[in-house]
Amino acid sequence: MIIIRSIAKMQAYCRLAIKQKKTIGFVPTMGALHVGHLSLIRAARKKNDYVVVSIFVNPAQFGPGEDLKKYPRNFKADSRLCQKEGVDVIFYPSTEEMYKKGHKVYIEVKDLDKGLCAKYRPGHFRGVATVVIKLFNIVSCDDAYFGQKDIQQARIISALVRDLNFPLNVNILPTVREIDGLALSSRNAYLTSSERADAPVLFDSLEQARCLIKNGQRDAGKIIYKIKEMISGKESAKVQYVEIVDADTLEPLKKIKGKVVIALAVFIGKTRLIDNIIVKI
Ligand code: PAJ
Repeated sequence: MIIIRSIAKMQAYCRLAIKQKKTIGFVPTMGALHVGHLSLIRAARKKNDYVVVSIFVNPAQFGPGEDLKKYPRNFKADSRLCQKEGVDVIFYPSTEEMYKKGHKVYIEVKDLDKGLCAKYRPGHFRGVATVVIKLFNIVSCDDAYFGQKDIQQARIISALVRDLNFPLNVNILPTVREIDGLALSSRNAYLTSSERADAPVLFDSLEQARCLIKNGQRDAGKIIYKIKEMISGKESAKVQYVEIVDADTLEPLKKIKGKVVIALAVFIGKTRLIDNIIVKI
C-alpha cells in the first residue's frame, strides 16, 4: 500500500493503471474509518483491480459552528485498517493541496439540495459536490463507492456523474449498523454512554414506521408524527427533521407510494445523527 499526498502523483498513478488496463475502485472518505467505510472498501476490493481510498476532511462542507475542528482524525489507525483490507493507495492530501489560494469554483446541484439535511446545513452539499468532483478529476476511477446512510449525498453524486458525464459507476451500498441498529458513524464517538443508550431510537423509530406502512398506513403525516413521538420519549434526543420523500427525486410525499425514503436528523445531546430507510410498496 502506498500513501500519496500530491494531486499530480495521484493522477500519474491513475494514468499508469489505465495504460495497464486495470480498473480502479475509489472510496472517498473523511477518515475515522469504521466498518461502514470498510464495507465500501471490501466491495471495491471485490470488483476492481486497484482500490484507492481518499482521506480528506473537507472544510468546504462544514458550516460555521459545525465540528470541522473536532472532527475525529486518526491517520495511523486508518492506514492500518486500509492495509488490512488490501487497499492499494491512500490519497491523503493537505487542505492547501486541495484548495489552492484563491480557489474560485464551486459546484451547485439543483433541487436535490433543497430538503432534508440541506435545509439545516446551508452550503454543505455545495462543499460535498465540489470536493467529490475534484476527487473524481484526481482519481480517474471506474467505480466509486458511497453509503446509503448519506442518501441525499448519494443522490447528489449520482446526479453529478450523470449530468457532467463522468465515465464511472456510482455504487451505493447499504448502511452498516451496530447490533442494536445504530448506524455506524464517525460522529458516534462524540456520544456519552447515556446518549449512546438513547441513540438506537433513530433506527427503532424508522423500523416502527416500516411496520405502520406494512400494516397499511399511507398517510405520511401520521407516520412522521409517530416517529417524532417515539424519539421524543428519549431524554437526550431532539428531532431536527423527519421527512418521507420519493426515493429517487427526494421530493416530499403526502401519501406513501412506490419507493420512498424515510429520513431523519436528530440531535442526541450535542451530536447530530442522521439515518434513513428505503421502503418499497
Ligand atoms: P464520510 O462521512 O467519511 O463517509 C464516507 C463514505 O462512507 C460515504 O459514502 C458514507 O455514506 C459512507 N458511510 C458512512 N457511514 C456508513 C455506514 N454506517 N454504512 C455504510 N456506509 C457508510 O461522506 C463523506 O465522508 C464525505 O461527505 C465525502 C463523500 C468523503 C466528501 O467529503
